[in-house]
Amino acid sequence: MYLFKWLKCLILLLIAFSGTGADPLVVEIPNGKLRGRDNGHYISYESIPYAEPPVGELRFEAPKPYSHQWVEIFNATQPPVFCLQWNQFREEGSRLVGNEDCLTVNIYKPKNQSRTSFPVVVLLHGGAFMFGGTALYGHDYLMREGTLLVVKISYRLGPLGFASSGDRDLPGNYGLKDQRLALRWIKKNIANFGGMPDNIVVIGHSAGGASAHLQLLHEDFSQLARAAISVSGNALDPWVVQPGGRGRAFELGRIVGCGQANDSAELKRCLKSKAASEIVTAVRSFLVFSYVPFSVFGPVIEPADAPDAFLTQDPRDVIKSGRFAQVPWVVTYTTEDGGYNAAQLLEKNKTTGETWIDKLNDRWFDWAPYLLFYRNSKETIRDMDELSKILRQQYLGDRRFCVESYWDLQRMFTDILFKNSVPISFDLHRKYGKSPVYSFVYDNPSDSGVGQVLSNRTDVYFGTVHGDDFFLIFNVGTLRKDIRPDEEVISRNFIKMLEDFALDDRGTLKFGECDFQNNLDSKQYQVLRITQSGCKNEQLY
Ligand SMILES: *[C@@H]1O[C@H](CO)[C@@H](O)[C@H](O)[C@H]1NC(C)=O
Ligand SMILES: *[C@@H]1O[C@H](CO)[C@@H](O)[C@H](O)[C@H]1NC(C)=O
Ligand SMILES: *[C@@H]1O[C@H](CO)[C@@H](O)[C@H](O)[C@H]1NC(C)=O
Ligand SMILES: *[C@@H]1O[C@H](CO)[C@@H](O)[C@H](O)[C@H]1NC(C)=O
Ligand SMILES: *[C@@H]1O[C@H](CO)[C@@H](O)[C@H](O)[C@H]1NC(C)=O
Repeated sequence: MYLFKWLKCLILLLIAFSGTGADPLVVEIPNGKLRGRDNGHYISYESIPYAEPPVGELRFEAPKPYSHQWVEIFNATQPPVFCLQWNQFREEGSRLVGNEDCLTVNIYKPKNQSRTSFPVVVLLHGGAFMFGGTALYGHDYLMREGTLLVVKISYRLGPLGFASSGDRDLPGNYGLKDQRLALRWIKKNIANFGGMPDNIVVIGHSAGGASAHLQLLHEDFSQLARAAISVSGNALDPWVVQPGGRGRAFELGRIVGCGQANDSAELKRCLKSKAASEIVTAVRSFLVFSYVPFSVFGPVIEPADAPDAFLTQDPRDVIKSGRFAQVPWVVTYTTEDGGYNAAQLLEKNKTTGETWIDKLNDRWFDWAPYLLFYRNSKETIRDMDELSKILRQQYLGDRRFCVESYWDLQRMFTDILFKNSVPISFDLHRKYGKSPVYSFVYDNPSDSGVGQVLSNRTDVYFGTVHGDDFFLIFNVGTLRKDIRPDEEVISRNFIKMLEDFALDDRGTLKFGECDFQNNLDSKQYQVLRITQSGCKNEQLY
């Protein structure tokens, strides 16, 4: 009897210690074994490289898949680093943040006995293609629900991610190529972490939303994910694909001491020899005032013969060609999205008490093209001035720019930077696509968000600003301290929406009690309005 018990005990012990299969923190992928971290109710696997470090000869090149074989167990408990950047949300003296070697995926898996594998949500973070990082977008709400495996992607930013001379030598879009390689990595490896490779939804906010859209504009995206969600940012926004990349690339060269370069091969050679920090710090010279324009280096249209080209046509033309992934797509905005970057104009100068918005009265014609991203898209100064004049008249009439007229200025920013593109891209997808397109507008102001942070003011009402919805899915501690009970409900509904969307075979979408209307075949188009009290479908004209 004793012997029997003893044997049973021994066998159990043997099972517990045999192989790594018994250690839930160790995962094996083709590169070898890695060990994550137990965080109580979830497991994290952080800073896993998916590409060779984009340094030295690999700077300004398409990413190379990570090919290193680990001899020892890879330590996947290192917190993710920021890609090197000139960060808008830091004080003037400390804007240079991060590391050039930064291309990693970061995986968060709930401990939930009721599932052996989880649907997957992939985050493309925001930050104007210039700054931000996976570390800012918390997974607390998602892990609390325990229903989704979360993957966050790091990608190159600013000049290191997007400098382009518009030709084969320095084609640009490195950051988007990084994302694509990471999506391939996830598809291939996520099952090893307990993710369901056929149930992946890609979601992004702002520049991340535009990125999700641009990824979807590749036909083979349908092999990498089942759906994409673009929250407050899509490929048709004017700050996304900007002309004039060549001029900016050579200007960058002049700033860092590559002024001799007379062709782009020479420019690239020279830029590769400079310190990464110098290249990124050069962003400062492109800002007209404060952090304006908020996106200097972003996606460009590459020549058709560029090696590993990512985007060779205007996104509108890609959609019209019908050559994009036929998977469900969601495109959204918030009612006062334009608080980014309008709220910054309300910031008071610490010594003089002056605000940028006061100065706007004298500087409107200089600054408006940078604030609203038509600096590079108008043929002549006359055309540019004409548009500036019309916009001012349309939104402010004869009033001056001041705190009292801020709301109308913010409305202008919302329309031009985030909202006008939604019905346009939406209609193009309906007309030339075959898969469902959905839209929601979020209308529920947070108590404190981007507007308050950028302006450093609490005496102005901002409404529902950029991120007020998204930060209920991925908590951003620096922007949102506490959330209200109504926001808790919305947070849960969003996360349930993602889970259902990832699992549903027919691509239907639900939020709380509301079914999204599939607009593919309908005449008028319906958006779901999400408010404090619930949701309802509305007709948009
Ligand atoms: C893994 O990295 C973490 C964070 O840097 C460190 O604290 C820990 O000691 C490392 N573990 C091993 C086994 O090297
Ligand atoms: C585990 O997942 C199921 C759905 O798959 C969910 O209903 C449940 O709330 C989760 N439990 C925990 C503890 O996270
Ligand atoms: C371009 O620059 C290289 C080296 O900086 C120089 O040798 C060459 O003569 C220049 N070519 C032209 C056409 O200016
Ligand atoms: C505030 O005003 C002073 C005096 O005009 C100026 O020197 C300083 O650069 C301003 N600060 C900012 C952040 O614009
Ligand atoms: C924000 O405003 C407060 C006063 O209202 C001031 O003391 C503080 O320095 C300001 N912070 C920044 C970053 O400007």
